[in-house]
Amino acid sequence: MGKINISDSLILPCGATIKNRIGKSAMSENMGSKGFVSNDFFQTLYERWADGGTGLLITGNVMVDQRALGEARNVVIEKGISDPSLKSWAEVGKKNHTQIWVQLNHPGKQSPKFLSKVPVAPSAIPLKKPLSRVFNTPRALSDLEIIEIIERFAYAAKVCKESGFTGVQIHGAHGYLVSQFLSPTHNQRTDKWGGSIENRMRFVSEIYQSIRREVGAQFPISIKLNSADFQKGGFSKEDSMKVVQHLSELGMDLIEISGGTYETPVMTGTKVKESTKAREAYFMDYCEEVRKIVKTPLMLTGGFRSSQGMNEALSSGVCDMVGIARSLAINPDFSNELLSGKDVKSLVKPLSTGFPFLDRTFPLEIVWYTDQLHLMGKGQDPNIKRSPLRSVLSMILELGMSAVKKVRG
Ligand SMILES: Cc1cc2nc3c(=O)[nH]c(=O)nc-3n(C[C@H](O)[C@H](O)[C@H](O)COP(=O)(O)O)c2cc1C
Repeated sequence: MGKINISDSLILPCGATIKNRIGKSAMSENMGSKGFVSNDFFQTLYERWADGGTGLLITGNVMVDQRALGEARNVVIEKGISDPSLKSWAEVGKKNHTQIWVQLNHPGKQSPKFLSKVPVAPSAIPLKKPLSRVFNTPRALSDLEIIEIIERFAYAAKVCKESGFTGVQIHGAHGYLVSQFLSPTHNQRTDKWGGSIENRMRFVSEIYQSIRREVGAQFPISIKLNSADFQKGGFSKEDSMKVVQHLSELGMDLIEISGGTYETPVMTGTKVKESTKAREAYFMDYCEEVRKIVKTPLMLTGGFRSSQGMNEALSSGVCDMVGIARSLAINPDFSNELLSGKDVKSLVKPLSTGFPFLDRTFPLEIVWYTDQLHLMGKGQDPNIKRSPLRSVLSMILELGMSAVKKVRG
C-alpha cells in the first residue's frame, strides 16, 4: 500500500467512511437562539464548510444540560428541548458526502460566573487564580448526579442520530467535566469515580458505553482527548495512554488528540515552544507514542498549517487524520485548496490589537475567530483584514461583555 495522503478516504472501525483525511475540529459558534436551539446561522455556516471539501465536520461544543453552559448562546440537547432546526443543520452538513458529527460537552467547573452560580465538578476544588475571579467554586457531584449526566450524553447522542448527524464526539479534552474526572488534581473523590486511573476513567468509559447502546454498532463515536493537561500532579501522559488503550478496546472510532485546559491553554499554541511550532502539530510527539499502542484511527489537532506538514504527518503514519480549526475559520475552502495537490499554506498568524495591554485583556484567539464564524453564519465571507479590536466590539454588541472576558485562549 502506498503512503497515505490527505486525499485518501478512511474507513472507521464502525464501517463508516470519511471521504478524505481532513477534519474540521470543533469551534464553538456562540450562535444559538433563545431556548438553547440552533437556527439558520448554523445551516449557512456548515453549508459553507461542506462545500469547502473537508471530509469531517465536527460541530462546536453542544451542551447536554442547560444548567451547565460553557459559553453564551450554547446550543443544548436535553429532554424537554425540541430543536427542529437540528435536522436542517445535519442535512446541509452532509452535502457532498461530508460527515458531520456533533461534539457533546459538559463544562463542569469551567462554566463562568455569569452562567453558573454553583457549577458542578467531581470534587469541590476551585480553578486556580486568576481564573477563580471568573469561575465560582464548584460543588461535588453526587453519585446519582454522575449517572444522570452519563444518561444525558447518551440521550443527546440519540437525538443527534435521529436528527441526521452522522456521528458524535465526546469532548474529553481542554479541562471540561470529562477531563476533570480524569485529572487527579481536579478529581479527589474516594468512591468508584476517583483515585486510580481505572476509577477516574470510569466516567468517560460509561459515557462511551451508554452512547454506544443508544446509537448502535455502526454509528461513529469519537473522543477529543488531551495528551496531558500540563499541570504538575495532573492528568499525565501515562494516564492518558491508559485511557486511550481502554477506549480503543471498547470500540472508539476516532481519537482526536489535543491538549491543555483553561488553566494551561496550550490548545491554541499560545504557550507552545518554538521548536514544537516548527513541526506544525503541537502534540505530534505524543501522537507518535499513542500510535505505537493502538490501531484506532487518530486525528491530530493543533498547529497544522501547510499541505506539506499535513501530508508528512499522514505519510509517516503518526496520525490518520489531520484536525484543523482556525484555518477553516478564515478560509472555508482551505480543504479544497489542500486537496488540489498544490503547495498550500494557511494564513493563520498571531493576533494583536497593536496595544499590548488590550492583547492581554481580551482572549483575541477566541474572539476574532468567533467573529469570523459569525460573518460566515450571516452569509458573508470571512475577513482576515478585520481588526481584532473591531471583533472585540462586535462580539460585545452580539453577545455582551461576558463574551470578551478572558476565560481561555
Ligand atoms: C474560536 C474557537 C472556538 C473553539 N471551540 C472549541 C470547542 O467548542 N471544542 C473544542 O474541542 N475545541 C475548541 N477549540 C479548539 C480547536 O478545536 C483546536 O483544538 C485549536 O484551535 C487548535 O487547532 P488549530 O491550530 O487548527 O486552530 C476552539 C478554538 C477556537 C479558535
